[in-house]
Amino acid sequence: MGVSVLSGKRILLGVTGGVAAYKAAVLARLLIRLGAQLTVVMTASAQRFVTPASFQALTGNRVHVDMWDERIADGMGHIELSRVSDFILVAPATTDFIARLAQGRADDLLAALCVARACPLWIAPAMNRQMWLHPATVRNVETITADGVRLLGPDAGVQACGEVGFGRMLEPEHIVAALEALLLPGGASPESSSSSEGLGYRLAGLDVLITAGPTFEPIDTVRGLTNRSSGKMGYAIAAAAQTAGARVTLVSGPTALSTPAGVTRLDVTTACEMFDAVMARAGAADVFIGVAAVADYRVAKVAAHKLKKTGVPPVLELVENPDILATVAALPDAPFCVGFAAETEDLHANAQAKRRRKQVPLLAANLAQEAFGRDDNALTLFDDAGEHVIARASKPAVARALLAHVAHLIGR
Ligand code: PMT
Repeated sequence: MGVSVLSGKRILLGVTGGVAAYKAAVLARLLIRLGAQLTVVMTASAQRFVTPASFQALTGNRVHVDMWDERIADGMGHIELSRVSDFILVAPATTDFIARLAQGRADDLLAALCVARACPLWIAPAMNRQMWLHPATVRNVETITADGVRLLGPDAGVQACGEVGFGRMLEPEHIVAALEALLLPGGASPESSSSSEGLGYRLAGLDVLITAGPTFEPIDTVRGLTNRSSGKMGYAIAAAAQTAGARVTLVSGPTALSTPAGVTRLDVTTACEMFDAVMARAGAADVFIGVAAVADYRVAKVAAHKLKKTGVPPVLELVENPDILATVAALPDAPFCVGFAAETEDLHANAQAKRRRKQVPLLAANLAQEAFGRDDNALTLFDDAGEHVIARASKPAVARALLAHVAHLIGR
């Protein structure tokens, strides 16, 4: 195993008061094993979940908990501790801490250090899913992202409270992997976060091919298998790409939406039709974005008439549909491919596995129950540099942030 980029890094690890605080101890141990030098700062509420003694034992360094600690030189602890750090990592970062960051408050040692810092600040949010979705949190996340703070996660899955959704802190090993990706040469720095940059006319002259909406796999002449995709996300991306100067072709499953101005739309019904429409155009595309919720299976024998109720439930034999995204990505002269992943849990692990399986440079993951049919969305982007969060916002705003990231990756 080679030497980690974290070796020798001076990290100020901030711990705030959430259930996930116990995982910060595991994180501290992983970072130390990789050769990082850790100084831990805990908020008052973090100490209700774990004691400073745990971190002191793990790091071998005194843990800082007090703004008014007389042992810190000149009483300037709020400046001094951040000046000697390569970066600040706050894990877990609670709803309240994010709110305080957004307001630029300096009402305890950790908050003061973040405001007084001259180094990058990366945070791993951890909170209940409703708190993560609360409009105030959405606003605060947008504010701190625009201020240059980088978010690692959160992940989706079963939470400490038993609810399922976004808000769970990334597992410590995933935080370490994200830090390593950020610290690699060429890794995205928080200040250059492309999701907060404007999209402008950065796709000028490019051919962008997009799939959107659901597919419909007939069972007989009137029934079929489909899903709840409305097409809103894919259509928003098509509109944003067109506004950014691209020639856009939208291959759409059945939706109730009107075609965005200036976009060429091809209507299809089944996954096989979508496959044919995409493959006929993929060779000419510079960028392919698979937003459609494509049925993985179709009915083997579609009945030529409406099936009658016989008293014996019919058995449907299904066969696998072709994987459009994976096929485009495997073309010898493939366009830059962006996949989507709609997950119901373990977003982080499932999305990364999907990116590997489909061999795409960029995968945008969203939580199915908080994306299908809604007017807003939140995405976690996975690429070679790690992960990037696009905070919850309207689908048009999310679409622009996604395309700004694509533009950044393709050197626009
Ligand atoms: O349409 P909305 O209501 O606005 O909702 C948006 C959305 C939730 C549908 C969208 O954001 C989204 O997540 N789309 C992908 C949904 C999905 O079905 O993901 P998947 O994990 O099954 O597929 C992974 C990727 O492979 C996707 O890019 C998909 O388009 C592609 N795929 C899947 C199967 C297949 N046979 N061919 C494919 O190309």
